Amino acid sequence: MRVLVSGGAGYIGSHTVVQLVAAGHQVVIVDNFANSKPSVVNRLEALTGEHLPVHAFDLRDRDKTEHLFTQEHIDAVIHFAGLKAVGESVELPLEYYENNLGTTFSLVRAMQRHGVDKLVFSSSATVYGLDQEAATEDRPTSATNPYGWTKVMQEQILRDIAVANPSMRFALLRYFNPVGAHASGTIGEDPQGIPNNLVPYIAQVAVGRREYLSVYGDDYPTRDGTGERDYIHVDDLAAGHLAALTRLTTMDEPVGVWNLGTGQSTSVLEMLHAFERAVGHELPHRIVDRRVGDVAVSYADPGKANAELGWRASRTVDDMCVDTWRWQQANPHGFPD
Ligand code: NAD
Ligand code: UFG
Repeated sequence: MRVLVSGGAGYIGSHTVVQLVAAGHQVVIVDNFANSKPSVVNRLEALTGEHLPVHAFDLRDRDKTEHLFTQEHIDAVIHFAGLKAVGESVELPLEYYENNLGTTFSLVRAMQRHGVDKLVFSSSATVYGLDQEAATEDRPTSATNPYGWTKVMQEQILRDIAVANPSMRFALLRYFNPVGAHASGTIGEDPQGIPNNLVPYIAQVAVGRREYLSVYGDDYPTRDGTGERDYIHVDDLAAGHLAALTRLTTMDEPVGVWNLGTGQSTSVLEMLHAFERAVGHELPHRIVDRRVGDVAVSYADPGKANAELGWRASRTVDDMCVDTWRWQQANPHGFPD
């Protein structure tokens, strides 16, 4: 297929591009580089050995999106583009609603005009709200912050569009906690500013960019008192997108919803110790207050994705840390400007 990857220069998008090309698909990237750098594309071309067409514009621009679909033949879309920082979304709700909903409106309009009927959408475990333990897809959705609401709303918008256009095929993929990097060490997660997420923060402590890890609370009702999450290697997650794309070609119903997680939870301290094993020495940390809005435990029931997509996450937490460390060591300041 010729696949349009929105947000293809971002963390999850870039890893998915590599696998799409390896599987024989043609890839077209659209990204405004709001949270990524153009040099990602050079790394992707080196990894894949392919020239990758890139359209650099804001997907909310309907004219430019329409022009893209006129210029390029597209069979399917994987829609990663969006803003994703929970705390920032509380400060800038309008930007989050405008960007995350606006990109989806613009893309789906152009798809409809050009007869493109397959879309894989980046949703999140955040749609389970406060109820994220052993989450199954039939659980009611809700959110606790504007970012989360953009995901709940986009899922609903896509469902409504599917009712009105039953020939469309949508995959709503609910990611748990993506971490890790491509085994080459040439692409990985490159947060701008202070990392919000655990593993990028630990990686920056390990490489000497941050003094110590702040562990947000050790009084949760968990194995060791620290928060537990379902960390999934980004390459397992990327593989889930290819499986979903295949499923869309044979699906009878217009919308499929799948959790992409491992089904296992790892605590903050367990993750810190796994990273210490990858680095070969201890890393400094301090226990601090809980972070507002955090749940104690979040992990998937990935059974539906395992059964229906024929997909399963296989990489371990140690694999995730070794791969993150390889990427961080080789690129202490992320991608070049
Ligand atoms: P990312 O920020 O690395 O990638 C998103 C990409 O989209 C960036 O390259 C950014 O420049 C681009 N983009 C943003 N707004 C755009 C716009 N208006 N027009 C064109 N391009 C635009 O994020 P990621 O971690 O790769 O996440 C990808 C998707 O997965 C997002 O929708 C995110 O909400 C979702 N998700 C991520 C996580 C996670 O922990 N990383 C978890 C669950 C869901
Ligand atoms: N944590 C720390 N110190 C840090 C960063 C995180 O102790 O510096 C802890 C958190 O308290 C939590 C765990 O590490 O217990 C994981 O935190 P992350 O920020 O890495 O991940 P979250 O599960 O909080 O957030 C992720 C995505 C969000 C999504 C959310 C809900 O980043 O986009 O899952 O599914 F909304």
